Amino acid sequence: MLKFAALLSLASLIPAFVEAASPVWGQCGGQGWTGDTTCASGSTCVVSNPYYSQCLPSSSNPTTTANPTTANPTTTVRPTTTSAGGGGSSSSVPQPTTTPDASNPFVGYQIYLSPYYASEVQAAAAQITDSTLKAKAASVANIPTFTWFDVIAKTSQLGTYLADADAKAKASGQKYLVQIVVYDLPDRDCAALASNGEFSIADNGLNNYKNYIDQLVAQIKKYPNVRVVAVIEPDSLANLVTNLNVAKCAGAQQAYQAGVTYAMQQLNAVGVYMYLDAGHAGWLGWPANLTPAAQLFSNLYKSAGSPKFVRGLATNVANYNALSAATPDKVTQGNPNYDEIHYINALAPVLASEGFPAHFIVDQGRSGQQGIRDQWGDWCNVVNAGFGTRPTTNTGSSLVDAIVWVKPGGECDGTSNTSAVRYDAHCGLNDAAKPAPEAGTWFQSYFETLVKNASPSL
Ligand SMILES: *[C@@H]1O[C@H](CO)[C@@H](O)[C@H](O)[C@H]1NC(C)=O
Repeated sequence: MLKFAALLSLASLIPAFVEAASPVWGQCGGQGWTGDTTCASGSTCVVSNPYYSQCLPSSSNPTTTANPTTANPTTTVRPTTTSAGGGGSSSSVPQPTTTPDASNPFVGYQIYLSPYYASEVQAAAAQITDSTLKAKAASVANIPTFTWFDVIAKTSQLGTYLADADAKAKASGQKYLVQIVVYDLPDRDCAALASNGEFSIADNGLNNYKNYIDQLVAQIKKYPNVRVVAVIEPDSLANLVTNLNVAKCAGAQQAYQAGVTYAMQQLNAVGVYMYLDAGHAGWLGWPANLTPAAQLFSNLYKSAGSPKFVRGLATNVANYNALSAATPDKVTQGNPNYDEIHYINALAPVLASEGFPAHFIVDQGRSGQQGIRDQWGDWCNVVNAGFGTRPTTNTGSSLVDAIVWVKPGGECDGTSNTSAVRYDAHCGLNDAAKPAPEAGTWFQSYFETLVKNASPSL
């Protein structure tokens, strides 16, 4: 009886919550969220990750567009079973049945456009009233970006994309390539807070990660005619080169190495062309860091059995450096490797001498504007950034396979809410745009600035 009365009184409160709905693009759920879980009219609450749900305009309603955020992560965040061979070091390493192209894997392929990013961009363009800006914003939906598989719940979405790419390939007679980011290491983002992940080393994280890789592999295996290119684990190995003084990075070292080794071996077996993340010019590009970095990449690669589909390294992922800067940005403080091409040209011979394949892809998605940072290390939603050079294989360097957009511009780098669990001080700096929602969720005003400041212009 008492319980029933309590329920009744609770129910009488509900209309008050409904009236105070979260605004479009506002937060509407996530771990520890005590605010409104309903959305303003015309928008729907969509789960982005365990930490964040966001009110997205109903025009981006994901049910028809294969939106990865529709997966319910709470059911799959902690898999109860580990995969066969997931933990065994004695199990033999599977080998690919095909031989990788010796030349640039991007050449001759049509790059698949993520329907999820396209739906985000279309919804964003719909919010813009200025017709010129609206048209420019809408055009971004036709520029290929990578899809980040940042929680295990999204892995089934890869199958949907591959099936779609396979169908498009058959219909058009063209060959298709799907671009993915493998990003779910346990104790992820060990030197920062904004992108902390779902797996913890202390709680079976490495086995959970192996299961995550197995889920990706299971999808890829089904579509042998679609080429997959992957960026492997942004920031992870670079953190092992320079941030072992951070306790969380030191504690993660073995798990990162084992996880990346497993990813290389298993993705190699299904013919995924891989680029390991290598930070950027202002990180591993400092002369003192080049040799330690090359040795780490090379040692891991060799201990994984020199997987043939490891093609090289990805640089500047989600960062703002130019591939080739006319003059050094003021924040580069005398580093001779002041842009990505100087970094690549300096690193390539060291890699080659260490026996690592020295090919590169470079993210230029948000590199349109230079001279916008107070410090080179500032990475969070930097104010006045603009979309950069469009993806192309016409890179001006035989070392660089492709200019790519790895970071989907408009998705947030990290929250500026100082009370949030994943608040990182970089997202509160003077050159960080505020107020910013959680990492990975849509940041409308930031997207509009990227469009306005695009160089070359859209
Ligand atoms: C900031 O985060 C805290 C903790 O999750 C939350 O209670 C608060 O409502 C958030 N503030 C804003 C402006 O989103």
